[in-house]
Amino acid sequence: MKVYRCRVCGEVYIGTEKPVSCPFCGAHENYFVLAKEWKLLHSEVLSDATKQNLKKALDLEINNTNFYKAISEKSNDIYVSSMFKGLSKVEREHASAICKHLKIQRPDSNIGSDKAVDSDQANTEEANRRERNAVKFYGQASSQAPEEEIKEFFKALMQIESDHIVLTNQK
Ligand SMILES: [Fe+2]
Ligand SMILES: [Fe+2]
Repeated sequence: MKVYRCRVCGEVYIGTEKPVSCPFCGAHENYFVLAKEWKLLHSEVLSDATKQNLKKALDLEINNTNFYKAISEKSNDIYVSSMFKGLSKVEREHASAICKHLKIQRPDSNIGSDKAVDSDQANTEEANRRERNAVKFYGQASSQAPEEEIKEFFKALMQIESDHIVLTNQK
């Protein structure tokens, strides 16, 4: 067994091999390193552009965390409920990772929790729209970031949210 660690969220994974994607934040395999080689994708000094984008990212992630949790609790379909339980946890992890960069506590907010409707299909379509929006946003944020580590951090999030587009597209 080996101890691996994620460079995006900082979580630890113990196993014989690297996971295909981070069980906590969804980062792809290439963001996992052995614990003794680990360093978080982090920059001590942040540009104003990056600070602004991190704040926007935090709103987006908290909003989606709460929306997905609400869908999960509302749905009577075990697959839909499970998928959004998982997605909510991943987005919560993203919010926490963003807060580490901003050096703040993750805010305890309910924004977005009232957005789930009674239809699984309508909720899933809205989730898919949000994920497409997130991919677009993280692509821009990555290209705007002057800090190499933050550029990479936003890129990792863009890849993860792209996986979510595929997931929420499946019928
Ligand atoms: Fe991770
Ligand atoms: Fe996310």
